[in-house]
Amino acid sequence: MAKPVSLFVCTECGAQTRQFFGRCSSCGSWNTLVEQAAAPPADQRRRRPVAAPDAPAAAPQPRRSEPIAAVGERPLQRLGSGYGELDRVLGGGLVPGSLVLLGGDPGIGKSTLLLQSAQSMAARTSVLYVSAEESAQQVKLRWRRLAEADPAGPAAVAAADLQLLSETDLELVLQELESLRPAVAIIDSIQALHDAELSSAPGSVAQVRECAAALARIAKRQHTALLLVGHVTKEGVLAGPKVLEHLVDAVLTFEGDRFASHRLLRAVKNRFGATHELGVFEMRDRGLAEVTNPSELFLGGDEPSSGTATIVACEGTRPLVVELQALVSTTSYASPRRSATGIPVNRLHQILAVLEKHMGLPLSRFDCYLAVAGGLEVEEPAADLGVAAAVVASYRDLTLPPGTVLIGELGLGGQLRPVSQLELRLGEAARLGFTRAVVPRGSGLGPVAAGLGLQLLEAATIAQALVAALGVNPADDG
Ligand SMILES: Nc1ncnc2c1ncn2[C@@H]1O[C@H](COP(=O)(O)OP(=O)(O)OP(=O)(O)O)[C@@H](O)[C@H]1O
Ligand SMILES: [Mg+2]
Repeated sequence: MAKPVSLFVCTECGAQTRQFFGRCSSCGSWNTLVEQAAAPPADQRRRRPVAAPDAPAAAPQPRRSEPIAAVGERPLQRLGSGYGELDRVLGGGLVPGSLVLLGGDPGIGKSTLLLQSAQSMAARTSVLYVSAEESAQQVKLRWRRLAEADPAGPAAVAAADLQLLSETDLELVLQELESLRPAVAIIDSIQALHDAELSSAPGSVAQVRECAAALARIAKRQHTALLLVGHVTKEGVLAGPKVLEHLVDAVLTFEGDRFASHRLLRAVKNRFGATHELGVFEMRDRGLAEVTNPSELFLGGDEPSSGTATIVACEGTRPLVVELQALVSTTSYASPRRSATGIPVNRLHQILAVLEKHMGLPLSRFDCYLAVAGGLEVEEPAADLGVAAAVVASYRDLTLPPGTVLIGELGLGGQLRPVSQLELRLGEAARLGFTRAVVPRGSGLGPVAAGLGLQLLEAATIAQALVAALGVNPADDG
């Protein structure tokens, strides 16, 4: 009998070698190689033939390349998930044969989202829900709770073509996929599946990679759209090898503040649509509800107070009106404290330095805290002007006139830089009843803003923008 061969697999990048090294030669990480027994891929060692058993064993046709212009085009079919917010993030719906990985913290609502969506899709097509983490009873209980709130009514819910399989063995899951050939299959979760032929534990790199690869092959072969749930490690990255993210067509993350009811769905990667699209849901007792007007969620109370400023952030093609809050207070430390929730802290440092240098505000003697309302993360520099205005307003104890939004990127020289999609942002501000917008000079959007009923205040520098927004010069000692 042949001696079993060992393979060493990197837990960081999934690279394989036959020899042990202290450092992975592929990604350079130290002490990440673990030993595993080599085995052929799961679906190649299967006994049951994939084609009809009586089909003649035809010799495989060699693939030929062809000029790209001659390649036949078919419009991408998309299957609506039943949720506009999920479809938006997917780029317009699920693509048959595609693989989508949904990651998120424990308890955030991944199973709820997919079960609700499975239920909705099952009214139109065949859906298999594989629960590898919960028993069929548990899933049934959730399904009942969700069904009671389903607008389609209990009869429609019961009639839907939704099959449930509670199983962790990859082999049995693959068999069920082949015999049912569903249009959509949901695997909850990929870490809980295991391939009995591999010696490593469920959830290990080798297992996750092998299970995902076998599922991917079957999905492509029979045009099943696969939705995989993936767990997130405590560092907030998807557990399992990076190859998992390469293997799938789209990676979505479901996130949210444990203390707030809203949940944000984003595409980190998408081969069939734009990334950085945002879907917003709200967790209610009867499941997730879509939030179609999320700007209202990220606006604070009605009372304007000192240290708040409103910006229009753009997530993908979706503008969001968001409130920022700043607190500036005299420091009692040798080096002042700076804390930012929802924007990168380095961005705050940079904005404070610009305000100090170009407006002469002695902010290095003050602690400064900044928070984005509603737990949203705003990464884009278009928030800079709003951050600066909130900080200055808190420092001077001033209130920005109600109905004002601030949009602009701040350069290190104190100049305001143009931002993308300004017209879209102004439209959203106007829709929510804002009346004044402070923007970088040269936007050319004066007539558009007038048409929207917005007063457009254009500024070339941070100083001009703050004077325009506040009505007083914050650099004057007052
Ligand atoms: N019976 C219930 N009544 C009301 N809300 C519930 C009930 N069961 C669950 N929930 C809510 O649904 C939330 C999400 O549950 P869900 O199982 O969908 O999350 P998950 O992301 O799949 O978690 P996990 O990572 O543990 O699988 C729970 O945190 C809870 O707030
Ligand atoms: Mg779950």
